[in-house]
Amino acid sequence: MLRVAVVGSGPSGVYTAQALVEQRAVPGVTVDVLDRLPCPYGLVRYGVAPDHEKIKSLQGNLRAALELPGVTFLGNVRVGDGPHGVSPRRLRELYHAVVYCVGAATDRRLGIPGEELPGSFSATEFVSWYSAHPDAAPGGFVLGARSAVVVGVGNVAVDVARILARGAEELRPTDVPDAALAALGESRVRDIHMVGRRGPAQAKFTTKELRELGSLPGARVLVRGEEASLDPAWADPSGLPAAARRNVEVLRGWADGPGAEEGGRRIRLRFFLRPVALLGEEAVRAVRFERTAPDGRGGVVGTGRFEEIEAQLVLRSVGYRGVPIPGLPFDAERGTVPNDRGRVLRDGVPSPGEYVAGWIKRGPTGVIGTNRSCAKETVTSLLADAGTLMARPLPEEDAATALRAADAEPVRWQGWQGIEAAEETLGRRLGRGPVKIADWEGLLTAARRASRSPGSMP
Ligand SMILES: Cc1cc2nc3c(=O)[nH]c(=O)nc-3n(C[C@H](O)[C@H](O)[C@H](O)COP(=O)(O)OP(=O)(O)OC[C@H]3O[C@@H](n4cnc5c(N)ncnc54)[C@H](O)[C@@H]3O)c2cc1C
Ligand SMILES: NC(=O)c1ccc[n+]([C@@H]2O[C@H](COP(=O)([O-])OP(=O)(O)OC[C@H]3O[C@@H](n4cnc5c(N)ncnc54)[C@H](OP(=O)(O)O)[C@@H]3O)[C@@H](O)[C@H]2O)c1
Repeated sequence: MLRVAVVGSGPSGVYTAQALVEQRAVPGVTVDVLDRLPCPYGLVRYGVAPDHEKIKSLQGNLRAALELPGVTFLGNVRVGDGPHGVSPRRLRELYHAVVYCVGAATDRRLGIPGEELPGSFSATEFVSWYSAHPDAAPGGFVLGARSAVVVGVGNVAVDVARILARGAEELRPTDVPDAALAALGESRVRDIHMVGRRGPAQAKFTTKELRELGSLPGARVLVRGEEASLDPAWADPSGLPAAARRNVEVLRGWADGPGAEEGGRRIRLRFFLRPVALLGEEAVRAVRFERTAPDGRGGVVGTGRFEEIEAQLVLRSVGYRGVPIPGLPFDAERGTVPNDRGRVLRDGVPSPGEYVAGWIKRGPTGVIGTNRSCAKETVTSLLADAGTLMARPLPEEDAATALRAADAEPVRWQGWQGIEAAEETLGRRLGRGPVKIADWEGLLTAARRASRSPGSMP
């Protein structure tokens, strides 16, 4: 038997587990998928926007993979040091191989004055709140704000701008937690400025996501033709790569269009503005930007001219960043674990039995499907090493029992199903579909109850 631990149950972890149990080169592989949360699916549960039901439904595919024979889900197991943490070293003792698929859980910083002012948040914090992540900061995001600035023009920026622009009635059929739904329902935000430091041709969002902004009921997208046309490709985008060309074409269709109707929301797409400071004393009141100009090579240069945009809410959506796991090497520059085709490198040399896949392996870019090929590459490396790895005898003890001894209280599949059932019950009580439970205690109580119910697995 080849015993493998996969740390993280997001797309990369699940695809790794699936690839391991479905391959035929090494028979008898068992995989324990550990996650620090009691719930599986990583960012598919806690990142993908609630109003994107089709992508959310990918959870069904991930579920099927976690239910494959040979795969065991063990939630509520955090890998790291300190109390209730299982160290990478201990995992290496318990398993022939460990694959770290821990994602990129934190945000990149702007590194400008005022970033910490009340009213300034990372998109990560805002997304965690409306996704009911149990570590999310309690609400208050939209409280009292009339104007919001979203820094960055990637797909996450589009997600958070869209959630701000949607009315509560549109979000009611989703699994958004009740407190977030109520707060968004009371939101007075009318202007949402989404700001890129470069031009329309360099924006990172994808056309489908961009186009959706133009179809939100009660909201209008505004683009300043005079500003966007600083981009040399604006007048004739035909020479751009296809994705950028389509974006520019959509943006051109919105340029200098009519404003929003009375009481409606305005999504203002701005370009060539680099944030230099968040202004305010007790709370943020505006963002100061330097106007930039294209440098002819896809980059920009500062012009020494400045502009302030009023905002009581600032969401910094400038990318995610990996978090180091104590006991595992980390490239602080890239925010990833150094690796060669998935093999973890310690001082440049492959470390036997340690692997990575997903965002912690290649950085925080790529859609869900990208993680499938990424996981496959890692599994190919692992299987090539299997003979050597299996030569090492493992302790007799069952890994889940050993993890409990290390002070973790694993939530098994039965427990997770209990959480799902409790979320359905909660939704029914609120007259909605399933509604996510947003706190640790609620999640663990539902999991424990299900584990104690008759017929449950030990
Ligand atoms: C806000 C947002 C929205 C997105 N929307 C889409 C979309 O609509 N469509 C699309 O295709 N892609 C989308 N993506 C991209 C997609 O979510 C990622 O490509 C994918 O989730 C990365 O997978 P991963 O497994 O590497 O990381 P994650 O999905 O982040 O999974 C990592 C898992 O590891 C666990 N973990 C972390 N640290 C530890 C630890 N120390 N011990 C144990 N467990 C740990 C976490 O709890 C988590 O479950 C979105 C990304 C973001 C940020
Ligand atoms: N629906 C979907 O398919 C979906 C939804 C969400 C996320 N995702 C995926 O998840 C990944 C992460 O998305 P993301 O939006 O977090 O990251 P991203 O695509 O890398 O976009 C980051 C944005 O922040 C800007 N930025 C970075 N540093 C900045 C700074 N110091 N000042 C101002 N702007 C700065 C970038 O501009 P520059 O280009 O100038 O650096 C870019 O516009 C992407 O691959 C994305 O496609 C997909």
